[in-house]
Amino acid sequence: GTGQAGTAAEQAGAAAILGFDPGDPAFRADPYAHYRTLTSHGRRLTRTDVGLRVTTSYDLCERVLRDPRFGHRPDGGEPWRATVARNRSFLTMDPPDHTRLRRLVSKAFTPRLVERLRPRVEALVDELLRDVSGETDLIATLAYPLPVIVISEMLGVPPEDRDLFKGWSDSLARGLDPDFLLPEAEIAQRDEAREEFGTYFRELAAKRRTEPRDDLLSALVSVSDGGDVLSEDELLATCVLLLVAGHETTVNLIGNGALALLRDPAQLALFRERPGLVQAAVEELLRYDPPVQLTLRSALEDVDLDGTLIERGKLVLLLTGAANRDPSVFDDPNRLDITRYAEGRDAPKHLSFGHGIHFCLGAPLARLEGQVALGKLFERDVALASGDLVYRDNLVLRGLRDLPVTVRA
Ligand code: HEM
Repeated sequence: GTGQAGTAAEQAGAAAILGFDPGDPAFRADPYAHYRTLTSHGRRLTRTDVGLRVTTSYDLCERVLRDPRFGHRPDGGEPWRATVARNRSFLTMDPPDHTRLRRLVSKAFTPRLVERLRPRVEALVDELLRDVSGETDLIATLAYPLPVIVISEMLGVPPEDRDLFKGWSDSLARGLDPDFLLPEAEIAQRDEAREEFGTYFRELAAKRRTEPRDDLLSALVSVSDGGDVLSEDELLATCVLLLVAGHETTVNLIGNGALALLRDPAQLALFRERPGLVQAAVEELLRYDPPVQLTLRSALEDVDLDGTLIERGKLVLLLTGAANRDPSVFDDPNRLDITRYAEGRDAPKHLSFGHGIHFCLGAPLARLEGQVALGKLFERDVALASGDLVYRDNLVLRGLRDLPVTVRA
């Protein structure tokens, strides 16, 4: 349990912890405008009412993410830090455990394997868009099913089991938010979903162990490195991590990306005219409205960060979504410019896939899906339909509940 007194969010309120209110509709509509207010007066590191350190600076986000003195598991640490203990995947581990597990999983989840998927991703997008015309919700017709089908097929989850995951995955997405921002009930729901996922994969993994197939789960079951193997718990946590990543992030690349283009007719026209820009465009869309808005790190020892002492165990909230628009790094940061990452222009990397040792393992897959989905979508005549845009209630993840559009054949 997280204590009888309720979570920190129930006691203090998320706004006091974070310095902004993630539930405020104005924040959801444009978090970037709110992030900018956090860094007025040239401060790069601010401190919220409860003492949480927050940064919107590209330089500081980048430095913390590659600094081995920051990580996830200091002994002791902030009272808020319970998230980490429950999430047993390598996403929140430090070296040497992180290194060992990531290496094992990388051996199964290779760029080669991902590139092999291209024809399948193209066929899926064609299929998902085939009968779409008139008014439709792009999240439901394209953005959500594509990554779900792809990761399920990769892992070797039978199609008839896919629907089981939707409910579990919803609970787990909210669960990517730090525990100190979640009500007890949602924490309980998430933990239950994690258990159910785990049980499901335990059975499926047992089948693949006796009868391996050409899928990622079979590869994970048999992966080894100098005598090192994944334990049962590690295997299950990895499957859950891959599935949650596959369900909850790429959907928002496609959704947020489509919305950004639909709102900017000149950029959309350019995107249509120059199909060769699709890779650069997806990078820019990732920078401009990233699916993952932030991450957290704890000081593993006392660290002087930009003149501020971060004591061992203290957390720093890295607003990478804000860092992607840091005006000291990016030209005209609030402008969508799909040529920003075109060849020959060396724009700084965005931080949307993270940076350093935890850099997103699924980035090649996410990029492939985003490029194919948005490329094929905008071969059609698509326009925003009227109606309010509603975002899902997550802090870490930013994504639309639905995206109503009109498609003309
Ligand atoms: C890690 C973003 C898609 C698997 C991360 C991190 C970010 C991120 C920011 C680092 C988190 C941190 O340092 O705290 C995204 C975005 C995606 C996406 C924006 C889609 C557009 C995927 C997909 C998969 C995946 C499709 C796999 C199916 C992972 C894994 C890690 C990770 C395994 C942990 C890496 C580590 O800890 O070493 N992702 N991701 N991601 N992502 Fe992704």
